[in-house]
Amino acid sequence: MLLHTKNSRETVELGKRIAGILRRGDIVGFTGDLGSGKTTMIKGMVSRLTGMKAKSPTFVLVNEYPGKVPVFHFDLYRIKYTEELSSIGWEEYIGRGIILVEWAERIEKILPPGTIFVRMEIENGKRKIKITGLKGRIENPHPQKKS
Ligand SMILES: Nc1ncnc2c1ncn2[C@@H]1O[C@H](COP(=O)(O)OP(=O)(O)O)[C@@H](O)[C@H]1O
Ligand SMILES: [Mg+2]
Repeated sequence: MLLHTKNSRETVELGKRIAGILRRGDIVGFTGDLGSGKTTMIKGMVSRLTGMKAKSPTFVLVNEYPGKVPVFHFDLYRIKYTEELSSIGWEEYIGRGIILVEWAERIEKILPPGTIFVRMEIENGKRKIKITGLKGRIENPHPQKKS
């Protein structure tokens, strides 16, 4: 599914909509350059799922947001090797809640087959957002293109 957002508000809204179809055990891997909007979309998701305000976990690898279904927000910008993840117990997070991972490209080889990917690109100031792995859970979550 290919979507576009014109500003960060639209990206937050899109995050909220996608969050509505996420369930415990889901892993969402975000890829895209610095400033492409990964954290922005995650803010929308965390807000809808837990009512909390997400912040960038830049100096820790993971932030936890408790909720009916807890959300674990990883930012892997600083990791160089997939192996570094086991030191924070990555495996133990799987299945406990919803996992949202920024810089998922750094751990692509250990992400399970059911992983949902959100690939974000800056395009003429707007954002091009490609989502894969939703497996027909929704037709189109975009606010401007209601089906
Ligand atoms: N359509 C858009 N979607 C998301 N962010 C946007 C958009 N247009 C402009 N921006 C700006 O781009 C930046 C995205 O930052 P952020 O979400 O932290 O990116 P990342 O986590 O990918 O590094 C913010 O300053 C935001 O205001
Ligand atoms: Mg970020």
